[in-house]
Amino acid sequence: MTHTTEKLSSKSEALIEKENKYGAHNYHPLPVVLDRGEGVYVWDVDGKKYFDFLSAYSAVNQGHCHPKIIGAMVKQAQTMTLTSRAFHNSQLGVYEEYVTKYFGFDKVLPMNTGAEAVETALKLCRKWAYEVKGTPENQAQIIVCENNFHGRTTTIISFSNDETARKSFGPFTEGFIRIPYDDIEALENALKSNKNIAGFLVEPIQGEAGVYVPTEGYLAKAKALCEQHNALFIADEVQTGIARTGKLLAVHHENVQPDILVLGKAISGGVYPVSAVLANDAIMNVIKPGQHGSTFGGNPVAAAVAIAALEVVKDENLSDNAEKLGILLRKGLNEIAERNPLITLVRGKGLLNAIVINSGEDSDLAWDICLRFRDYGLLAKPTHGNKIRLAPPLVITEAQIQECLTIIEKALNDFR
Ligand SMILES: Cc1ncc(COP(=O)(O)O)c(C=O)c1O
Repeated sequence: MTHTTEKLSSKSEALIEKENKYGAHNYHPLPVVLDRGEGVYVWDVDGKKYFDFLSAYSAVNQGHCHPKIIGAMVKQAQTMTLTSRAFHNSQLGVYEEYVTKYFGFDKVLPMNTGAEAVETALKLCRKWAYEVKGTPENQAQIIVCENNFHGRTTTIISFSNDETARKSFGPFTEGFIRIPYDDIEALENALKSNKNIAGFLVEPIQGEAGVYVPTEGYLAKAKALCEQHNALFIADEVQTGIARTGKLLAVHHENVQPDILVLGKAISGGVYPVSAVLANDAIMNVIKPGQHGSTFGGNPVAAAVAIAALEVVKDENLSDNAEKLGILLRKGLNEIAERNPLITLVRGKGLLNAIVINSGEDSDLAWDICLRFRDYGLLAKPTHGNKIRLAPPLVITEAQIQECLTIIEKALNDFR
């Protein structure tokens, strides 16, 4: 048994030192300094190659530096980058038509980051409640789930139950009711108990919580309950969307069409910050000029990049690949778990997966395992202590999955 970890090069150490000295310490990155990416691979500043098993939290679904997406970005960047929404531009309407038809909605509201899109969805939901549903002003409530992760803005952390994310950032925004995730009875009770419920905001799989997949049927039942109580079903597919779980959207596993769909990350293939809120006219038309916006939202580069990124998803059948290779990955992981009791659980859908390590949430074991993965050429990161998310770009091949399973087992065997 060996527990040594590769020493970093002086070049890597110097670059990490700069980040530590000049950057706010709001992240705790794995010690590796990346310089280049292509497809499923990334290279560090010393030229060492790794499999990327995080995909920038599922933003790089189409693989690093996909030539078609980069090509679209470069072409547009040389033509026109930003007009603001004070004027029309030649790309926005084309993108809006493309993205709405792609996902089956009447309208889109373009933003940049995931958190911004979630904020937009919350504002839209509240406004719909006041102007369409008839909720008395300032009384709207939105139901959210325990252990949710929807971003980092003040309103979003207001309804988080992660104390690290919340502590010393109050006072918080009111108007949220938190219920247990994957508990349909709790949702029904919450909807029944208050006539001012405007909507239900949910992650179809809780990614940051450790890839928690709800019971089959939960999403479909939740959608039906929302309909019954005239509340909007808001799906935050920032992490689960764009083919990650083996379907274009994770809600498609249960044939659900949300009232409001929130997208980010992979809608640009991780190339550029693009996010989107989609809804039908009956909801989206409550937003009028001056009531919401963003200088960069819907800019020409974002529009061109997002079209290319969404085309790649279809052209390369990424949903099918994620579905097929996800089954293979979980089978291989379960086989490793039979041989090595360090893995207590394997879970996930498509290529959004996690292994749960046999240690407490406060233990460093999962972190040490990720360091060992790194030494052997695979990058992954623990989430919530003892869970390691395994989410490679969706362009990965069967042979590469097998190679990664060998790396994962070899690293885990070092800790027996
Ligand atoms: C489900 C979900 N919603 C929202 C966000 C926030 O996205 P961003 O970091 O782009 O603000 C994330 C990010 O991980 C997420 O997983």
